[in-house]
Amino acid sequence: MNESNSKPATGSTTGTGAPAQSDRNSLTVGPNGPILLHDVHFLEQMAHFNREKVPERQPHAKGAGAFGEFETTEDVSKYTKAALFQKGCKTEMLARFSTVAGEAGSPDTWRDVRGFSLKFYTDEGNYDLVGNNTPVFFVRDPMKFPHFIRSQKRLPDSGLRDNHMQWDFWTNNPETAHQVTYLMGERGLPRTWRHMNGYGSHTYMWVNAAGEKFWVKYHFHTNQGMAFFSNAEAAAMAGSDADFHRRDLFDAIARGEHPSWVMSVQVMPYADAAKYRFNPFDLTKTWSHKDYPLIKVGTMTLNRNPENFFAQIEQAAFSPGNVVPGIGLSPDKMLLGRAFAYNDAQRNRIGTNFHQLPVNRPKVPVNTYMFDGQMAYEHTGNAPVYAPNSAGRSWADQTGKTEDGWEADGDMVRQAYTLHAEDDDFGQAGTLVRDVFNDDQRSKLVEQVAGSLLGGVRSPVLERAFDYWKSIDADVGRRIEEKVRAGKAPEPAAGEGEA
Ligand code: HEM
Repeated sequence: MNESNSKPATGSTTGTGAPAQSDRNSLTVGPNGPILLHDVHFLEQMAHFNREKVPERQPHAKGAGAFGEFETTEDVSKYTKAALFQKGCKTEMLARFSTVAGEAGSPDTWRDVRGFSLKFYTDEGNYDLVGNNTPVFFVRDPMKFPHFIRSQKRLPDSGLRDNHMQWDFWTNNPETAHQVTYLMGERGLPRTWRHMNGYGSHTYMWVNAAGEKFWVKYHFHTNQGMAFFSNAEAAAMAGSDADFHRRDLFDAIARGEHPSWVMSVQVMPYADAAKYRFNPFDLTKTWSHKDYPLIKVGTMTLNRNPENFFAQIEQAAFSPGNVVPGIGLSPDKMLLGRAFAYNDAQRNRIGTNFHQLPVNRPKVPVNTYMFDGQMAYEHTGNAPVYAPNSAGRSWADQTGKTEDGWEADGDMVRQAYTLHAEDDDFGQAGTLVRDVFNDDQRSKLVEQVAGSLLGGVRSPVLERAFDYWKSIDADVGRRIEEKVRAGKAPEPAAGEGEA
């Protein structure tokens, strides 16, 4: 009864490899009797099921990815000695794309910034570039990051998303203006992950073989062309296929359509940083392409789907702190905060030895003094577990100036970055609205912001939002205010509406 005939010939095994007796019937006393405690196979199935999820990423929970290859096609050796960026080098890699605020099961077409995470399995260890589809970010001090993320997620009482809370955070932190303008524009709704650009966003350091240092910003331009969803299309898609972006990438690669991106860098001579008109380490700012034009480096192509989503995507662990020789971090405070946050999140999310999993393991030999801990798989046998040691196990011993370091001194303070000549919160957002967006894009921006503000944003946040947009651009701000005021239900007259 109710038994299918699709019985596989060889059966299954227990977790310890012995033949399992049944995956369909538990062991009972008679057909109607109680289940027996010594049905270990059944108990193991139940217990493992209770543990088969790991905590989802906080943030960037909803995403997917694919494997591929990065090929350096140009000679940029005068800027970096990193092996993966030497002309002709081909490096196996993994990419993961994501939304920021939504949970693992949320629709991937919700308006949001998209994550653009890359892991390069280089000959010198793994290099991770964990960026977004926008060149800037909402805040410039990592202290604000958890507050920002919470304001974009859900209310503590109802568990609902809330426009009022989002705008309260943004308008209380005017440095968000540039990124909010991107988010409310077309890039907030990419048509697919294949049709969006990626950015390293932060300023990183490159070091060449002679030890010369440069500041760089990474750009990945899609070869598929940029394409976007309208609000209506994205909303319909969210309802009909919550996994549209995930499906699109997987299906395209399965069809043999391998998406690719051209990687370029903007390179700033090391000494320019002190006097550039914008603080080059402020993550809310871009560098003008006129000042620092794009220099092509190579092409990234995604050509292989994961065989197992959980093992290779959910357990993938990216960190901006994972660099290789020839690449360094920078004084960007956000980047320095991130250098801590990711590995710590992954120890909590996946486990102490997450770096030993096949998707995270480098392709080069590892000689690390991090050992033991839950689920230790790789080990160093009987080798000394301490350094220095007299048994010949090598250890690292660089002293003095680090090749990817920079100068710093002064009192310890809690203070915003020193402003450069043209630094402010609204200037670059205004340039984006006036000089990059066309009339149609500006009108869509007004529609989008007004629609969002009409979605439950109350006084005094509403008035602050009008001022925020007028500070970005007087005309766009005025149009947003007019639209919102026209769309608001009239305030009830005194006495009206009382029972
Ligand atoms: C101080 C600021 C930030 C902190 C503390 C932070 C922290 C985190 C944490 C804890 C995760 C989850 C990691 C995991 O569980 O594997 C994450 C994911 C992510 N973050 Fe950030 N983040 C910050 C800023 C940024 C910025 C500025 C960007 C982009 C420029 C960014 C892009 C991403 C991406 C793409 C992911 C998903 C990684 C993946 O695909 O697995 N984050 N962030």
